[in-house]
Amino acid sequence: MCVLAALLFILVACGGSEAVSEFVPPTDETYPGELVEQGKETYRRHCTSCHAADGSGGVGPNIRQVWEHMSLEEQTALMIDGRNQMPEFGGTLTQEEIEAVVAYTRVGW
Ligand code: HEC
Repeated sequence: MCVLAALLFILVACGGSEAVSEFVPPTDETYPGELVEQGKETYRRHCTSCHAADGSGGVGPNIRQVWEHMSLEEQTALMIDGRNQMPEFGGTLTQEEIEAVVAYTRVGW
């Protein structure tokens, strides 16, 4: 029984470390489905020209895993204020549209 438990532990431990090196886990943030859907629409209208439909980038950088280095607050502020070639959307989009598009770009791809 002990040997079996030890064996299982080793299997699980090894599987785990392999997964870390090969797989980047998605953020565990959750958002309401409707918000993400709305964000997808907003993204299609305002963002695909520079970041591509799948977020892989073009004029703007790849943002598929932007949640890795930007917090929700930082990303929301960037949407409102813009930065360099990234336009400011504070005057174009409503607060809700901004929340939606940020949610979409964090969990929606
Ligand atoms: C005119 C082209 C353009 C449009 C339209 C645009 N972006 Fe950007 N975006 C950029 C550029 C260029 C940058 C890099 C800014 C910099 O120099 O820091 C950027 C940066 C970003 C970043 C930060 C990336 C990082 O890793 O730091 C996010 C997130 C982002 N954009 C999301 C969006 C979203 C969402 C929309 C639509 C609401 C959008 N962008 C529309 C050009 C654009």
